[in-house]
Amino acid sequence: MLIEEKNIIKKILEIEYELKDREKNNFLERYNKDNIHEKQIMFHRCDKRIRFVFGGNRSGKTECGAVECVYMLRGIHPYRKNRANVAGWAVSVSYDVQRDVAQKKLLRYLKKEWIHDIVMADGKKGAPQYGIIDCIIIKNIFGGTSTLSFKSYEQGREKFQGASLDFVWFDEEPPKDIYDECRMRVFDREGDIFCTMTPLKGLTFVYDEIYVNKFDNDEVWHINMQWDDNPYLNKEEIKLMTQSLPDDVLDSRKYGKFSAAGGLVYPEFDEKIHVIDPFEIPPDWRDNISIDPGLNNPLSCHFYAVDYDGVIYAVAEHYEKGRDIDYHAEKIFEIASALNWRKDGMGRLRALIDSAANQRTLAGIKSVAELFYEKGILVNTNVDKELFSGIAALKSLFKQRPPRILIFKNCVNLIRELKGYWWGNGDTPIKKDDHALDELRYYVMSRPCATRVQAPKSEVQKDKESLYNAIKRKKTSEFR
Ligand SMILES: Nc1ncnc2c1ncn2[C@@H]1O[C@H](COP(=O)(O)OP(=O)(O)OP(=O)(O)O)[C@@H](O)[C@H]1O
Ligand SMILES: [Mg+2]
Repeated sequence: MLIEEKNIIKKILEIEYELKDREKNNFLERYNKDNIHEKQIMFHRCDKRIRFVFGGNRSGKTECGAVECVYMLRGIHPYRKNRANVAGWAVSVSYDVQRDVAQKKLLRYLKKEWIHDIVMADGKKGAPQYGIIDCIIIKNIFGGTSTLSFKSYEQGREKFQGASLDFVWFDEEPPKDIYDECRMRVFDREGDIFCTMTPLKGLTFVYDEIYVNKFDNDEVWHINMQWDDNPYLNKEEIKLMTQSLPDDVLDSRKYGKFSAAGGLVYPEFDEKIHVIDPFEIPPDWRDNISIDPGLNNPLSCHFYAVDYDGVIYAVAEHYEKGRDIDYHAEKIFEIASALNWRKDGMGRLRALIDSAANQRTLAGIKSVAELFYEKGILVNTNVDKELFSGIAALKSLFKQRPPRILIFKNCVNLIRELKGYWWGNGDTPIKKDDHALDELRYYVMSRPCATRVQAPKSEVQKDKESLYNAIKRKKTSEFR
């Protein structure tokens, strides 16, 4: 073979090797390509401005947080409108963790040729992976440059002031003051906050504001990731880890679930199974209304329906505090009209109510029950308030498959209370936010029955009924 030919073959082999090497190291292009982590894709696809990934350890949280940053900084986000000159922060628990986790993953997904410059806080620019990076300047495909600065919770809130940002990524749960400060940082650019964390600190503000979403913020979104969701984890390893950890630790470390010392009262409630999109219920499913009155606390009222198989549906909600009975009655009537709810011959509604509604307060001459009566809501105070039987009955309804109870998505406060109801010390639940749960219990304990399929009424039957109703109305008005 001629020397020239040999050289050409050598060159071709070199090029092939280089191409293979590039492909092997092109982590972003290979990200979720063959082996797909579905929940990571759901996270990238979600268009909300505040996104939290609650995941067990090794479930794949940080990986998607790092990729989301790269997508935004480079201007190549596959599911969002991309911006030029993006400014973002990647915030870690400490600088050491930054170097070993967030920074390492970011450097892996950022191609070398995309990096315009790196500023080090500690260590050498030539080997950034071994030092602590202060910021990375990245070439944005729209022409300008984007900047990613690294921060740590150790710095304290003051160090988070001043900047105006397109996004902040928290890898692991931030302290509340830093989280609040960062929300201000993304305010004027209508930027994003995303957080990838294992809930290990108990029921913190993240639990209230994000998981339970107590302010009902439409821009808040979360997803749970567990070991089984991560196709990159070895199945044998999962088995071993599961066997070696106690149940309460598994809850957070495997499933990424929040937990308090005593545990949830209704762990059987699963939003994905029990919460459904509203639909128009057939008229004969309409069953009863249940009320837990409150003045400084909210008054909670739900409309319940039962189908032909005995499945209970919470279909509508009125939940408000600091209002008088006139106001509440008006709201309840508004919902009743919208649902075409069953009324008696005199246009009155029927409802269950906490027996405490019978008591007269010192200030009032009339009891809450009497006030509702006057407003045309015939409240029945004869409800079963036995806490444990009520809880047991409800737990059993949630546990059964197919589910025996379903909640319309619009009953946001009932859903929130179900997710945030914990056992306290001893055997009683913590008495906080249980208003909707109390009246749901009263309703369930009233033993609602399956609606019977009704044969259509004959003309004679209809005639008889309207005659009967007319006589009843006449008698009632004579009596009054
Ligand atoms: N899309 C992906 N492509 C390739 N590997 C992945 C992907 N998602 C997760 N992994 C692998 O799964 C492992 C765990 O992922 P990651 O570090 O994101 O988990 P984590 O939930 O942040 O864990 P920790 O609780 O330890 O912080 C990583 O070692 C990573 O290699
Ligand atoms: Mg992580």
